[in-house]
Amino acid sequence: MTLTESKDFSHLFSEETKARKPSPLKTCIHLFNDPNIVFLGGGLPLSDYFPWDNIHSQSPLPPFKNGIGSKITGLKDDTLEYVVSRDEKVEKADIPFKKSLQYGATQGQPEILEFLREHNKLVHEFNYSDWDSILTTGNTNGWESTLRIFCNKGDVILAEAHSFSSSLASAEAQGVITFPVPIDSDGIIPEKLESILDNWTPGSPKPKLLYTIPTGQNPTGSSLSDERKEAIYKIACKHDFIIIEDEPYYFLQTGPYLKDLEQRKKYEDQQEQQNHEQFLKSLAKTFLSLDTEGRVIRMDSFSKVLAPGARLGWLTGSKKILQYYVSLHEMTVQGASGFSQSIINGLLQRWGQDGYIDWLKGLRSEYVIKRNNAIDYLHEFLPASGPFTINPPIAGMFFTVTIDATAHPDFKTKFNSNPKAVEQHIYETIVKNGVLLVPGCWFITEGETTPPQPADSKQIQNPNEIFFRGTYAAVAAEKLREGLKRFSECLKEEFGF
Ligand SMILES: Cc1ncc(COP(=O)(O)O)c(C=O)c1O
Repeated sequence: MTLTESKDFSHLFSEETKARKPSPLKTCIHLFNDPNIVFLGGGLPLSDYFPWDNIHSQSPLPPFKNGIGSKITGLKDDTLEYVVSRDEKVEKADIPFKKSLQYGATQGQPEILEFLREHNKLVHEFNYSDWDSILTTGNTNGWESTLRIFCNKGDVILAEAHSFSSSLASAEAQGVITFPVPIDSDGIIPEKLESILDNWTPGSPKPKLLYTIPTGQNPTGSSLSDERKEAIYKIACKHDFIIIEDEPYYFLQTGPYLKDLEQRKKYEDQQEQQNHEQFLKSLAKTFLSLDTEGRVIRMDSFSKVLAPGARLGWLTGSKKILQYYVSLHEMTVQGASGFSQSIINGLLQRWGQDGYIDWLKGLRSEYVIKRNNAIDYLHEFLPASGPFTINPPIAGMFFTVTIDATAHPDFKTKFNSNPKAVEQHIYETIVKNGVLLVPGCWFITEGETTPPQPADSKQIQNPNEIFFRGTYAAVAAEKLREGLKRFSECLKEEFGF
């Protein structure tokens, strides 16, 4: 099937994007590698002066037969040894340091980009022809650039009613209004989103972007179903906004929490036996796969699947839009770290697409265990009925416990019927007792337009419900158990259980 090109969304660009002229110096940089040109045009240091002749890595070898967290022995059956050299390509698709550590490839080095394009084709269905990917220094960078590409001061974006606080803060710091979209345990409620936009107050700027974390949402841990994504995409077309899918947790799709141990074992065995095709098919449909117009920008990151300090991620979307990111990055980050590109590319090229999928599948198994532990412990320590609700996630790193604040014996007196005061008090109490989970109010999306939106649009379903977000990613099982025991003891004590 021949695919058509993406649509033009330049009417949604910021004034900054419309005004940016390409740096004239960047227009000739491609001639640096032309053997017929004596390039005296740029301040590029001679690569002979880069003080790394080679870097040698020992990494786990697919199919990671002892599990992906296990120590490698240095022996051939579980250890991959590779060298990235300054001057030579050891393997055909390597990126020697003389290239990656030099100025130039703002979009990213071609070898790693090609790997990521192939990976994208395995994960998404593309419905328009001119899509591409560019590297970022992670989704934090991808998001900050997105705001600059699309938003002016005073513009409005939509975000889940509880969302990743750093992303909200980044928008707010740029003078962008973050308007909340109601969510439930399955993420954005499409009907509510549509109603907000259908009833949008005339005279206030219409939202240009929807910022969403569809999988293992931070902080709620919820995941959007394929059906909801389809409905949201239709609303985006109807109301002409761009969807930014921020997906650092996409590959941590653990599936449902099963309390019954027999059922659990059966499910886990089935997961284990999945071949690559079945594994990829089991993943949630992405907004990118629904996009026929080029109005979705996807942000992927190696932070949660390889290492956050690598500061490497990638954006995928229409070339018509991505070219503006490249122009912006030429003047901001200049490009992702050359070390990260060479070393991660060296690994990925040797693992191959199959080895990388083995890795992602192995990582999922680890997170299944971690998620199950966390929820098992909470069931062990918290009463089955009462004001506490344990919310087992189907993806990501986070779980939440929601609490009916009105059940606190001092709700009306000491806390003046203010659920946030209860939340703050519990936060302080748990920290005093040696465990830290973070209160939901740290993640509230609460921007408002001028003139304001109808009161209905911001109605919260259950204003007396508070929640705490915890992660099972960061600690080993015994510590997790101890932490959740302390947390649960505090809650029981506070609420008189
Ligand atoms: C939703 C979300 N987006 C982005 C990030 C940051 O990602 P990166 O390390 O790729 O910048 C995080 C990290 O916690 C996150 O939860």
